[in-house]
Amino acid sequence: MNTLYLNKIQTDEAANILKNGGIVAIPTETVYGLAANAFNESAVKNIFKAKGRPSDNPLIVHISKINDIFKVVSEFPEKAQKLAEKFWPGPLTMILPKNENVPYCVTGGMNSVAVRFPNHEIARMIIEKSGVPLVAPSANISGRPSPTKFEHVVNDLSGKVDAVIDGGDCKVGVESTVLSLLNETPIILRPGLITNEEISKVIGKVEISPLVLKAPEKGEKIISPGMKYKHYSPETEVVMISGSSENYSQYVNSKDSENSGALCFEEDIPFLKVPYISYGKRNCPEEQAKNLFDSLRKSDKLNVDTVYAHFESENEVSAAICNRLIRAAGFKWIKV
Ligand code: TXA
Ligand code: MG
Repeated sequence: MNTLYLNKIQTDEAANILKNGGIVAIPTETVYGLAANAFNESAVKNIFKAKGRPSDNPLIVHISKINDIFKVVSEFPEKAQKLAEKFWPGPLTMILPKNENVPYCVTGGMNSVAVRFPNHEIARMIIEKSGVPLVAPSANISGRPSPTKFEHVVNDLSGKVDAVIDGGDCKVGVESTVLSLLNETPIILRPGLITNEEISKVIGKVEISPLVLKAPEKGEKIISPGMKYKHYSPETEVVMISGSSENYSQYVNSKDSENSGALCFEEDIPFLKVPYISYGKRNCPEEQAKNLFDSLRKSDKLNVDTVYAHFESENEVSAAICNRLIRAAGFKWIKV
């Protein structure tokens, strides 16, 4: 397939391709998404094919005004309305009962649907001009780190999609918070920039799925299919390390003979004797979130076998980073 590269003002071209059943990678404030008309089954299936995504892993439907939620849900409960008023447009995805318009392939057969109203001008214009809700999973090959730069999308999907639109770097850097509102107490299935604390302030008690920070046990019930798959992984092995700069760098330096590298905080750099990539200042999780996926991709260029990723919990946004890193590391986490 010949992939067309569009610039940020070519939103009419992108919308026309989508209207004709094509698939187009578009920027959002979180990560780039691979978009298709949510009601066009063959277009949706082409997304799964292009990404190599398992067909039971459902997609998020993206809208460009709150009222369009009724195109895909059968209920819009009060708590969801309050959250939409407070956080939309923005990086919050809500899971609600679906209506009969949503094709089976979008939800992988589930009777709920995930909905998000992104806060990115290009994304919103493209949804608006397409005239339909758009499904958009992250625009990466399944299992790889999510794309936060145009070049990441080009590397993964060139020749596999109809078009990619260059919207520059994504501001948030980790995907939206996913919140299920199917039960009395809403539950966070994927942490993001919008935290548990901020959500609780609007609607009261919120639970956090235990699977946010651990691997599912054999036979454990998984409410979000995405939780069971390998995720966010570069070619290089990743191991998470928690501890002071001193202990971290001592540990990593001691692994020097084993061809190791560091995915570190800026403050660690003076102590390190191995190749490194810094993903931000220690006390700035927002900066780390923005750089995380790019740094994971860059770790393959260090030419090392294992990269030791420094992680510290600084505030609630750290949960979003921890959730991605621990999956990239296949749940290997050492405290030093
Ligand atoms: O920020 C984002 O959310 C980005 C941008 C492009 O909008 N999109 C994104 O999509 O991260 P994706 O497909 O990479 O991740 C969607 C996650 C998956 O873990 C999926 O299993 C879960 O949401 N999900 C989707 N629909 C669901 C449903 N009905 N019930 C439970 N989990 C669902
Ligand atoms: Mg994804």
